[in-house]
Amino acid sequence: MSQTAINAADIAIEVSGLSKSFNGREVVHDLSMTVRRGMIYGFLGPNGSGKTTTIRMLCGLLTPDSGEGTCLGYDIRRDADKIKRRVGYMTQRFSLYQDLSVRENLEFVARLYGMRGAPRAARAMIERIGLNGREEQLAGELSGGWKQRLALGACTLPNPQLLLLDEPTAGVDPKARREFWNEIHALAAEGLTVLVSTHYMDEAERCHEIAYIAYGHLLAHGTVDEVIAQSALTTYTVTGGDLNRLSAELADKPGIDMAAPFGTSLHVSGRDKAALEQTIAAFRSRSDLHWQQSEPSLEDVFIELMSRSKDNFQ
Ligand SMILES: Nc1ncnc2c1ncn2[C@@H]1O[C@H](COP(=O)(O)OP(=O)(O)OP(=O)(O)O)[C@@H](O)[C@H]1O
Ligand SMILES: [Mg+2]
Repeated sequence: MSQTAINAADIAIEVSGLSKSFNGREVVHDLSMTVRRGMIYGFLGPNGSGKTTTIRMLCGLLTPDSGEGTCLGYDIRRDADKIKRRVGYMTQRFSLYQDLSVRENLEFVARLYGMRGAPRAARAMIERIGLNGREEQLAGELSGGWKQRLALGACTLPNPQLLLLDEPTAGVDPKARREFWNEIHALAAEGLTVLVSTHYMDEAERCHEIAYIAYGHLLAHGTVDEVIAQSALTTYTVTGGDLNRLSAELADKPGIDMAAPFGTSLHVSGRDKAALEQTIAAFRSRSDLHWQQSEPSLEDVFIELMSRSKDNFQ
């Protein structure tokens, strides 16, 4: 892993053995993680895998059944109030007032946090997030991308040290997502630590480190390159021929963990290189197909992790 001995002052989040059950069903299992200050740390995993539950435990909103840890140096069980005051949390659902204007929403947040000069603080934030000219527009009438920028502005207004962003760009178009991420990087460059959950691969690639969680289990973490290297997947990209038929023919054969179409090519991958090579040998001699060994993409790795964890945990 990239971090060996880290100075305590450089750590934003350090938790170990976190578990949580709802109605007798464990949704987070023995989760340990470390996030260094100033990092953009991405949280990935299928729906219902425990990302939101983990985020809520990290900031003291939810008490774990077992496990312990610190967030910004404060104990997540005992010092929840201190943590909440220093953390900006952008929830998965838009949580500002739809029938208040951009300006009113921001002034409200500023007053809620007891900030002096709320109008001035709101004005500065409107400038920062590029919403000038829209300050009197109702939040509910903004486009999806602008809503998310406003929500980000609202949760950074009280000057938090840590931002928890839960799927902040779900359903937002690529250009607005890119701008949102430029802002996240600008905030991290100013020293803020950002923990962000996402289902988008391009966003995962913009994180300094990522963690993949499935069915409550943290299955992989590190930089994108490290996570890809750890997977030890052998991957081929196949073009030409009837790829749908090839995909069906390869499925369930020894050594093939995944055969998935990507545009006009098929990604074929597996963990057992020898078995994979043996299975595809027969197909490689076909003149209509072109086989090219390639580095697995992050998506290949995640799909493989997910299919494997399904067998293990369900
Ligand atoms: N308060 C609750 N009471 C009961 N069950 C809950 C509660 N909160 C979450 N769960 C369940 O725990 C599991 C994990 O949910 P969680 O919201 O943490 O997943 P997630 O990874 O954030 O999913 P998504 O990508 O869909 O947001 C789900 O099965 C969910 O239904
Ligand atoms: Mg969630």
